[in-house]
Amino acid sequence: MYMKKFEEKTFTIPTLTGISAKNIEEHLKLYSGYVKNTNTILEKIAEYRQDSEKHAYALGELQRRFAFEFDGMRNHEYYFESLEGGASPLSPNAELQNEIKEEWDSFDAFLAMFKSIALTRGVGWAVLYYDPLTDRLLTQWVDEQHLGHLTGLTWILGIDMWEHAFVADYQPSGKKQYVEDYFANLNWDNIEKNFTQATR
Ligand SMILES: [Fe+2]
Repeated sequence: MYMKKFEEKTFTIPTLTGISAKNIEEHLKLYSGYVKNTNTILEKIAEYRQDSEKHAYALGELQRRFAFEFDGMRNHEYYFESLEGGASPLSPNAELQNEIKEEWDSFDAFLAMFKSIALTRGVGWAVLYYDPLTDRLLTQWVDEQHLGHLTGLTWILGIDMWEHAFVADYQPSGKKQYVEDYFANLNWDNIEKNFTQATR
């Protein structure tokens, strides 16, 4: 048996540009579902392992889907945390600012590229990671919650590009505006904190 459980986090999300409080409220319910299912899968796996031969097929599928629930939980925690405290730009002196410039020459060039990744067709996430082994930043598209994460890299920033994140406020055709507004709502102090922790 797993003795520990993942706890649902709470977030204080201020009034946002474009993204309604109602949408955030509904989105948090989905997050809650990921936490619940992460714990449920772990419980089920522990239960079925008592007779792993009998439950071999179910166990394989549970194990296979674990990353979907776990990453769904964790991705959303980063997502909501990056909106807490209200919009704040990345300080010109921030270490993350320097690292971005080293990688992409300018902050605006990075932003334009990251936004275009966010518009990848399909449901998933655009993610900015830090690679501690090579001291580099990398961007990536992750399908669903879990397909395409980069091994050993740490999440710095991500945008949820599932339709539930924006359709109620923007309609499917408003995807581009949602991306713009998400960036307008970011508290870069929190994102800089992710970077500081990743490079510590
Ligand atoms: Fe989501």
